[in-house]
This record gives sequence, structure tokens and C-alpha cells, in this order.
Amino acid sequence: MKRLLVLTAAAFISLPLTPAVAQDGRPGAPGAGDPYFPGQGNGGYDARHYDLTLDYDPNSKRLAGVTRVSARATQSLSRFNLDLVSTLAVRSVTVDGRPASFRQSGTELVVTPRSRLPAGRGFSVVVSYDGRPTHVVDPDGSVDGWIRTSDGVFNANEPQGAMTWYPGNHHMTDKATYRFRVTVPDPAVAVANGDLLGKVSKGGRTTYVWDAREPMASYLATVSIGKFQLLDTRVGKFRVTTAVDPRLAEEAAGFAERHAPVLDYFASIFGPYPFSSTGGIVDDAPEVGYALETQTRPIYPRVPSESLLAHELAHQWFGDSVTPTRWSDIWLNEGFATYATWLWLDRLGTETVQEAFDTAYAPAADDEFWQTPTADPGGPANLFHDPVYDRGAMTLHVLRREVGDATFFAILRAWATEHKYGNADTAAFVALSERVSGRRLDALFDAWLFKPGKPSL
Ligand code: ARG
Ligand code: ZN
Repeated sequence: MKRLLVLTAAAFISLPLTPAVAQDGRPGAPGAGDPYFPGQGNGGYDARHYDLTLDYDPNSKRLAGVTRVSARATQSLSRFNLDLVSTLAVRSVTVDGRPASFRQSGTELVVTPRSRLPAGRGFSVVVSYDGRPTHVVDPDGSVDGWIRTSDGVFNANEPQGAMTWYPGNHHMTDKATYRFRVTVPDPAVAVANGDLLGKVSKGGRTTYVWDAREPMASYLATVSIGKFQLLDTRVGKFRVTTAVDPRLAEEAAGFAERHAPVLDYFASIFGPYPFSSTGGIVDDAPEVGYALETQTRPIYPRVPSESLLAHELAHQWFGDSVTPTRWSDIWLNEGFATYATWLWLDRLGTETVQEAFDTAYAPAADDEFWQTPTADPGGPANLFHDPVYDRGAMTLHVLRREVGDATFFAILRAWATEHKYGNADTAAFVALSERVSGRRLDALFDAWLFKPGKPSL
């Protein structure tokens, strides 16, 4: 009763100012609720497709962008947020073609449509913006986002860089398909995820159109720019598109051909390669210090070693197709990719999986390494710590020895198949392992995933 009175009064008071229809509905949450990055992502809608039109000049470092997000309201929405740094200036926002009001605050773009969006309604938001994008510094001191290089940009967005160059729902739980149209001055080349649809040159500038048709988390999107040598070819059953910094051309000879053997092997154990194309971006950016499994087309700061190539390609199944539900589950990416690399190196005859395990297991029980439980590295500063990678991989090896090869590989395959293009967490992996093996595995997972300390064998 009291509530009804309040609502009635509010509706009455604001009636002359805004249409009554805008009065119901609630604001979408400003974050997806991930404790590691509370502002990341947004509530109240599901982004389905991004159409990104970008114009970037590596000389002036200016970006002009138009982002169209096709979304669906998951609640009755009076307003909603997109993630975008405020150093990029938003010039206009429309919702379903009608001008909407907006404000920028911190890393949030807050959009108020002219009228409420009912739950379940599909809508599209168009944001025009510009500025001089740059990277963010992560809690661990590394950089991600729009990382400028001498001839363009090394664009890697894990864990939070997406907000540095386009507005969106930037938590990994909201996957969407993408179309990219990127215009750069010649001779710069713009490389993104998915399939190269075409390029059009006019007046010394070229527009590259890329189509990522399988759902993708924001942190796996890339638009990387440089004086790349672009190669779009077929190797075996794969469409392989590579972009190589000409300074590394000689060292990168045969780069495209290196993908199929790794992918064929992984497909034989994890199930079919999940995307329509593959390849990689080899930039000359040693200062970045890491590679990233950008979907379909990983980005490397140098010519990758065999183990780095295998690591990023394994992520296409584990991380890209099957994505964690929150950042603390990052071992589901890094532990799996590390283990897959052990498998590949074993296959090549470089080192057996058991040898790799023994090396990783070697640190003494009082070593700092063992203080971090695999399934929660403790905070965003530890996302890419060694235990996430190596203890994660060891966890899988111990599981394999416990349940046997046939069951273990059935578990990995089921994980890739059942959660294809989706999100899943550690609890789901534990449950799947117990289901497929028909065993209770809590002692093993307790010791390896959830408790600090060196587990005994
Ligand atoms: N996922 C990347 C890899 O496996 C590492 C990304 C590191 N990101 C960062 N901001 N430090 O290899
Ligand atoms: Zn990795």
C-alpha cells in the first residue's frame, strides 16, 4: 500500500516532464557482479551483435568510431550502461534510431532511452565517439587495450582493455557476434577477428571488413593495426589468415603452415575446431611481453615459439569457445592451455607430459608457488601468475592419472562440446568430471583446486 502511494506520487510529479511510459522500468546494473572487476559488464540487457565502424590514423593517433550494439532487454529498462573510458568523447547516442540522453562517468556510459524498453524487447544502440585511445594498466602492472606501437596498435584486451576502444557490455559472460569495418591510411593494414570479407581502397585509405560469426567475449576481440603483410590462404581444411610485421617476415616464414598440424591434433582430442577461420597476428612489440588468444586469430608480440603457438591455439577451445563465468575461474583457460601445450610437445617428442609435470611439481612445499589454490588466484593482480598456468595444468594431469586416459579425454571433449560458445565455471568442471568418470573426486579437487599447499601424490 505504502509502495503504491509512493509510485503514484512519483508518477504524478514527473508527469509533465517525461512521458509516463518512461516511469516504470529500472536502471540496468552498472556491473556484471564480478568481484575482480566490479564495473565490468552491465546488467539488464544481452548484447547479441556488434557492428564496429572505426577510422584510425596511426600518425595523429585519433580514432573515430561508430558502434552499433544489437541487444535484448532482460528486464524492463529505464536506462542502461555500456563500458567505455571517458577519455573517449561520446558525441551522440541513439536507441532504435531516436536520440537518447547519455552521460559519461569513469568507465561507464549511461544511456537513457526516450522511452522504457520492456523486458524481452530487442533494441539497437548506436554510439558515435572519438578521441585518442590508449591502453590501461592492469592490477598486475601489465598493459592491455589499445596499445600503441610504432606503426599502429597491438590490440589485446584481457582482462579489461575493450573499454579503451569501443563501448559495450564488456564482461565475458555476454558474448556476441561482430562485424568490423576499419579504415586506415595506406600502407597500414587493419586485422580483426573472423573472416576477411573484403577491402576497399579510396584516396589513399583502405577499409578492411571482418566478420566474426561465432559468439565472442569482448576481451577476445581485436582490431590490430600496422604495416602488416596480410596473407589469406587455405591450409588443409583451415582458412588461415595471418598478418606479419615486415620486420619479422624472414623469421616468420611458414607461419601460416604451422597452424594446421597443431589444430588437427587438438581437434582429434578436443573435438572439431570451433571457428570458421584461424591464423595469427605477429607484431613486433616485445615491450608488450605477452601473447593473447584473440578469437580465431591470436596476437603475438614476436614470432611465437612452438609452445606459445600451441598455447594460444589450445585457447580457441578453452577460453574462447568455452569461456569462464568469472575471472577467478581463469585456470579453466590457462591451466587447460598449458596442459594442451604439454600434450603437443609430448606428441612432437620434445618433452613428455610426465616430464613437464615433474618439473612443474618440483618446487618445495614451502615455496611461494604452492600458496595459491588453482581455482582462485586471490585477486586481479594474480590472474596470470604461474600457479594459474602450471598448477592448473598439473590438476588436469592428476585427474588424468586418477581416472585413466579414456575417461580423462572424454571429460575434456565433453567440456568443449557441452559448453561450446558458452560460459562455465569450476563447479561445472568438477561436476562434469564426476559425471563422466562416475566417481567422487572431491579429495583430489579439494587438494588441487581449492586448498593452498603442495598436494601429495
Ligand atoms: N591469456 C594470455 C595468455 O595466455 C595472457 C594475457 C595476459 N594479459 C595481461 N594483461 N597480462 O597467454
Ligand atoms: Zn594462456
